[in-house]
Amino acid sequence: MSLIEECSLTVNDLLLPVFVHDGEEVEEISSMPGVFRWPLRRLAEQISQWHAIGLRGFALFPKILPEFKDPLGKEILNPNSLTYRAAKLINDTGLDLVLIADLALDPYTTHGHDGVLDRNGDIDNDRTVEILAEASVLCAKVGYHWVAPSDMMDGRVGIIRESLDKASYTQVSILSYAAKFCSSYYGPFRSAIGSASPKAPKVEKGSYQLNPANRREARRELQLDRLEGADILMVKPAEPYLDIIQYAKQNLDLPIAAFQVSGEYSRICAASKLGWLNEMDCAKESLLAIKRAGADLIISYFADRMALALND
Ligand code: PBG
Repeated sequence: MSLIEECSLTVNDLLLPVFVHDGEEVEEISSMPGVFRWPLRRLAEQISQWHAIGLRGFALFPKILPEFKDPLGKEILNPNSLTYRAAKLINDTGLDLVLIADLALDPYTTHGHDGVLDRNGDIDNDRTVEILAEASVLCAKVGYHWVAPSDMMDGRVGIIRESLDKASYTQVSILSYAAKFCSSYYGPFRSAIGSASPKAPKVEKGSYQLNPANRREARRELQLDRLEGADILMVKPAEPYLDIIQYAKQNLDLPIAAFQVSGEYSRICAASKLGWLNEMDCAKESLLAIKRAGADLIISYFADRMALALND
């Protein structure tokens, strides 16, 4: 009974990922039933509705049209790109909310990697970091409150902090994807933003994302991002990595976020479609477990429906 319950989920724990696209219509993402790509003409109204049910934090993810992609992901530095237009529209609502920009090149590159490649086809860490730092200033300019580097390049948090400070955006926070594992649970997300499809050859991100077997390395990544100036540290995926969330909470004095990723969402939806699991019960149990492990904030595709359920 709730008097002796040790932790409980509230709407303040939840951040909602929001996919946006340059089309006219609302599109349902086939591998993520109940999750949609929003056209800009519907975005402000939809955000207001989510705000009305108590959600305050929104992480935007753009689906970039193929004609704007290239191997260098140059579109991320176009101030009129979708991500920047979307933020302006949302901020024009005047609502009190936190807008989070995902900083990585994968929506913008033809190869789907989070960074640019060198001559050998390997990730060029330092060049990628420079591009992301420049993009972080564009994000701040259009009113993103937090930037969230999700690329896992080395040294990016420090350089992004320096660039934001130099441009006088000292108040913009860095939500760092600090312990991001090379997970098979990102598949539905990659289809959602069009950076890969289940039929195309797999984009191998193991040279920059963490090996799921490595706890010590995850600890080191968390510590490094904290030293470089991250304001919030994130673990991703969430439920398969509760030990890492617990470590972060107990050892690093910063707010800890966890990303319950697309595959964690879709597996619950799929089993419930088959009649094997109850969707909202499993969603709640998963979110509660993530909170119990130590997450202060959870990015979840269930956030909107969970907010409604918690309001009841
Ligand atoms: C990439 C990025 C990914 C996600 C968020 N940002 C995928 C990846 O690393 O390939 C995954 C989110 C999800 O699966 O819900 N910058």
